[in-house]
Amino acid sequence: MMITYEFTNNWFDETARKVWDDLIVKLSPARILEVGSYEGASTCYLIETLGAHKALEIHCVDTWLGGIEHATLDMAVVEQRFARNIQRAKEQAGHTIDVTIHKAGSDLALSELLASGKRGYFDFVYIDGSHQAPDVLCDAVLGFRLLRKGGVMAFDDYLWQEPLQGGADLLRCPKPAIDAFTNLHMRQLRVLKAPLNQLYVQKTTA
Ligand SMILES: C[S@@+](CC[C@H](N)C(=O)[O-])C[C@H]1O[C@@H](n2cnc3c(N)ncnc32)[C@H](O)[C@@H]1O
Repeated sequence: MMITYEFTNNWFDETARKVWDDLIVKLSPARILEVGSYEGASTCYLIETLGAHKALEIHCVDTWLGGIEHATLDMAVVEQRFARNIQRAKEQAGHTIDVTIHKAGSDLALSELLASGKRGYFDFVYIDGSHQAPDVLCDAVLGFRLLRKGGVMAFDDYLWQEPLQGGADLLRCPKPAIDAFTNLHMRQLRVLKAPLNQLYVQKTTA
């Protein structure tokens, strides 16, 4: 049955869907961590695609305060849409979908997951929260520690730049942080082939 969602953008369809149709089905993750959930487009895709075949544990991390790029939006309304969308996806899934919502800054939420013993726990980590370089670096380093060997971590908006007068500010883009992370962890990961609007790495060590 076609589920009717309340999405006000098509970010997920434009960047991730085509790659995920192949990668997510092959990886078939059961334990998922998402940083940046917004209205739940990526979360609902995962529930619809995987929840028909298996039980899922999904952790969604978001402040629902928006990033710099969402300054004019009513994020309380976005959060309400997220809750309704997730509920609809869960109702249609054939298996138990355990969604834990961490309404917090990702640095705190990911640190708490590590402190609670979830090092090496997740099969798939999706980093789509703040697009500011220092925040992305923090999400990458902590997210990777939470990822199991063989698991995949995906970064959205690898080439995203904030439209600023006078050109891009590298500190306000994900790319320098993702590049620093992949360089420093090069002995622990391999970069997967994918279109460059996103970057995917597979963890090769425990
Ligand atoms: C691009 S949206 C996520 C889109 C979503 N993955 C999708 O597929 O539709 C980014 C989200 O990250 C959240 N965010 C921004 N900075 C954050 C931070 N430091 N910690 C947690 N969430 C953050 C924002 O509130 C926003 O909802």
